[in-house]
Amino acid sequence: MRRILVTGATGATGGAVLQALAGRNVTARAMVRQPAEPAVTGADETAVADFDDPAALAAALADVDAAYLVTPSSEQAARRQLRFLDAARAAGVDQVVILSQLAAAEDSPVRFLRWHAEVERYAAEHGPAHTVLRPNLFLQGTLAFADLIRATGGFGAPIGDAAVSAVDVRDIGDAAAAVLTSDGHLGRSYDLTGPAAITHTRLAEAISAATGRPVHFADVSPDQFAAQLRGVLPDWQVDGLLEDYAHYRRGEAAAVSTAVPDLTGHPARGVDEFARAYADAFRA
Ligand SMILES: NC(=O)c1ccc[n+]([C@@H]2O[C@H](COP(=O)([O-])OP(=O)(O)OC[C@H]3O[C@@H](n4cnc5c(N)ncnc54)[C@H](OP(=O)(O)O)[C@@H]3O)[C@@H](O)[C@H]2O)c1
Repeated sequence: MRRILVTGATGATGGAVLQALAGRNVTARAMVRQPAEPAVTGADETAVADFDDPAALAAALADVDAAYLVTPSSEQAARRQLRFLDAARAAGVDQVVILSQLAAAEDSPVRFLRWHAEVERYAAEHGPAHTVLRPNLFLQGTLAFADLIRATGGFGAPIGDAAVSAVDVRDIGDAAAAVLTSDGHLGRSYDLTGPAAITHTRLAEAISAATGRPVHFADVSPDQFAAQLRGVLPDWQVDGLLEDYAHYRRGEAAAVSTAVPDLTGHPARGVDEFARAYADAFRA
C-alpha cells in the first residue's frame, strides 16, 4: 500500500490533508514534533521529526512513497523545505507535494512569495519529482480575527475593497489528497482558489449571516494594522503581512482557478459555506 508522509500534521493544511486521505487506500504517516497524544486524526502511523534534524527527517522518510511538504511561515521556511527535499530525494521518494502560495515569484515585493519561489526553483532544478500547490489566502486565516470579532463585532485589515479569491483549507486538503493518490501530476503546478473573488466586506457579511449578529469590516491603514501587531508578532512577520496585504490590495490575488473542482470533483467551498462551518468560533 502507498505510504504517504504528511508534514505539518498538527497544522491547518497538514491536518486537512490527513482528513482527506482517510478512507483512501493508503497508509498515512503523520510527521509531528512531539509524540502525538492523542493520536493525530486521520493518521495510520506517526513519525517524530523536526525539520531542523536531518537524521530524524531521514527516519521519517524511510519506506515512504510520497510526501506532503509544508512548513510554517518563518525566516527558516525555505531552508527547511530545501533540507526536506534533499532528504526526500535521498530516501527515493517518488513524489513530494509542495505547498507554495499563489503568485510565488523570486522578484516579488512580498517576502513569503520570494521564499516559496526559491523552493519551487530548487525542486525544479534538483528534484525530487514533485507537484506544486499554490493556494491563495486561506479563508481559515479569518479565524485569527475571531477573538476580535467576538469582542467587538468587527475586524480590520489594510485591504480596502480589493477582492481576493480566498480558498478554504479543506479544499487544499482535498486537492493534495487527489494529487497524492492519482497519476499525472508530476512536474505540474496548480493554483488553488475559492469559487469567486470576494472583498473583506463580503466576508464580514457572510459571518454576520452565519452567526446571526452584525459583523463589520473596516479598512485600516498599513500603519494602524502594524501598530496592532508589533510586539505581538515578530517584526519579519508583521512586515511580511503588510507586504501580503499590499499585494491583495493591488488586486493581484483575484484570479479564480478551476483547479479545486478539476482535481477534487467537487465545487470549491465558498465564503458562505466557510462562515457556516466556523460560525461558533465567531459567535460571542
Ligand atoms: N495563511 C495563508 O493565507 C496562506 C496562503 C497561502 C500559502 N500559505 C502558506 O501555508 C504555509 C503554512 O501552512 P499551515 O497554515 O498549514 O501551517 P500551520 O498551521 O502554521 O502549521 C505548521 C505545522 O508545522 C509544524 N512545525 C512547526 N515547526 C516545525 C519544525 N521545526 N519541524 C517540524 N514541524 C514543524 C507545526 O507543528 P507543531 O504543532 O509542533 O507546532 C504544524 O504542524 C506557509 O508556507 C504559508 O506561506 C499560507
